[in-house]
Amino acid sequence: MIGRVNHVAIAVPDVEAASAIWQASLGADCSQPQDLPEHGVRLVFVTAPNAKIELMEPLGDVSPIKSFLRRNPDGGIHHICYEVDDILAARDRLVGEGARVLGNGTPRTGAHGNPVLFLHPKDFCGTLIELEEVKG
Ligand code: CO
Repeated sequence: MIGRVNHVAIAVPDVEAASAIWQASLGADCSQPQDLPEHGVRLVFVTAPNAKIELMEPLGDVSPIKSFLRRNPDGGIHHICYEVDDILAARDRLVGEGARVLGNGTPRTGAHGNPVLFLHPKDFCGTLIELEEVKG
């Protein structure tokens, strides 16, 4: 059911400092920081040949990654995003197998303009999984 890994998201306390490390130490190709207030994050997109990494800093008072950073003050891997062809079919299959979808189960528009859903980390070995519908 799942397709390519679309991105791995890393929560960081300071996205500019993190981007400087990725560029200087890893020689990575990093975007300029972008504010996504509707998602409560400031993002740097790191492009690798086979996937993307997203460095995310909390933005605003209700950022979904604030509590993660309280538990992991240095930052850390926050979620893995897999591509799916049909997000509603994927959701219905997962719910049928007992997995929990976060929120009300209706896909939201993600950072790339595509429909996304998140799956409860307790159902996936402690890993928050994002599904993103990408038309092939
Ligand atoms: Co994501």
